[in-house]
Amino acid sequence: MITTNNFHISRHSPLEEYTRLLNSKEEARTELLKYAADIKMQNVGKKVYFRGLIEYSNRCKKDCYYCGVRASNPGPHRYQMEDSEVLEAAKFALDNHFGSLVIQSGERNDKPFIQKIENLLTKIKDLSDGKLGITLSCGEQTRETYNRWKEAGAHRYLLRIESSSEKLYSKLHPNDTLHSFHQRLEALHTLKDTGYQVGTGVMIGLPFQTTEDLANDLVFFQDLDVDMVGMGPYIEHKDTPLYEFKNSLLPLQNRFDLSLNMVALLRILMPKINIAATTAMQAIDAQGREKALMVGANIIMPNLTPVKYREDYLLYEDKPCIDEEAAECQNCLEARIHMAGGEIGYNEWGDSLHFTYRNKMH
Ligand code: 5AD
Ligand code: FES
Repeated sequence: MITTNNFHISRHSPLEEYTRLLNSKEEARTELLKYAADIKMQNVGKKVYFRGLIEYSNRCKKDCYYCGVRASNPGPHRYQMEDSEVLEAAKFALDNHFGSLVIQSGERNDKPFIQKIENLLTKIKDLSDGKLGITLSCGEQTRETYNRWKEAGAHRYLLRIESSSEKLYSKLHPNDTLHSFHQRLEALHTLKDTGYQVGTGVMIGLPFQTTEDLANDLVFFQDLDVDMVGMGPYIEHKDTPLYEFKNSLLPLQNRFDLSLNMVALLRILMPKINIAATTAMQAIDAQGREKALMVGANIIMPNLTPVKYREDYLLYEDKPCIDEEAAECQNCLEARIHMAGGEIGYNEWGDSLHFTYRNKMH
């Protein structure tokens, strides 16, 4: 049995070891989660940072097989938020002492889009007197675009690898240049070169995915030396091609448990990074995000997207909180975080300590 006192991870065969830990059940699992909670407290403490999430646009040129806003899905009405709406959301974040915003969008590389994001970054920085930290999650872009957006004020970037196994990646995406695994890797390296705090992540419980794949994902995060990770369970969407494999999936509860094990083990392996308690965890378990906070996560992303757009930004089904206005979400979150023993880091950027140390070493 693994206990907190003799919790040990062999460095000789990390893959086998991570796989074993990810599969841990009952007492062994309780020990894993408990050890991760201790490591979290020792390294990042009980502060939870808010990143107000703005789902800027669901227009996407890609066709990922798992995603509800993929270009070929005729279902969602396609929108792009007005500048005034984005600025209102930013104002809400500022007035409510959120340290940062995340601007997320379907992937586009056209000039008007690139320009638009750049203008919005400048306007948000002006409006907040530089106070709001801004994270972007707008997909694969050229080095030039990443540079432009950084100049305009973004300092963190999220780009999930989705799966670090090229073989699995190719089953989740069309086989064309737009969905190249190597380009995605390249984009992650470019983001690091450009000086962003870089976040990546994977989906957990995908069709064809094995626990070894997930163990490899953890090694991938370590090798890339990422600053932030957001990962959560895969949740099927009926208007996507992967839906046909729904009968081969792990039951939802197992997908959730595995996701929690991933968060815990990642916290042990990368004690000073930022880890998000993702909405997908809450989609399965009403207390999912709090559970993630307790075993390792330290970031939460309250949704600031105007309610009228949320039905059209369903990456997966049963996405929670689609009817709640931002203010209601915040009250509910505050109470939940306190119940989970956390404390909200108001008015702070809450940068990844890993990033800070990484730069000091250079
Ligand atoms: N289930 C869970 N997560 C999903 N994402 C997209 N579709 C799904 C799904 N069906 C995640 C991807 C993407 C992020 C914005 O949302 O990992 O990077
Ligand atoms: Fe939009 Fe995958 S479907 S990036």
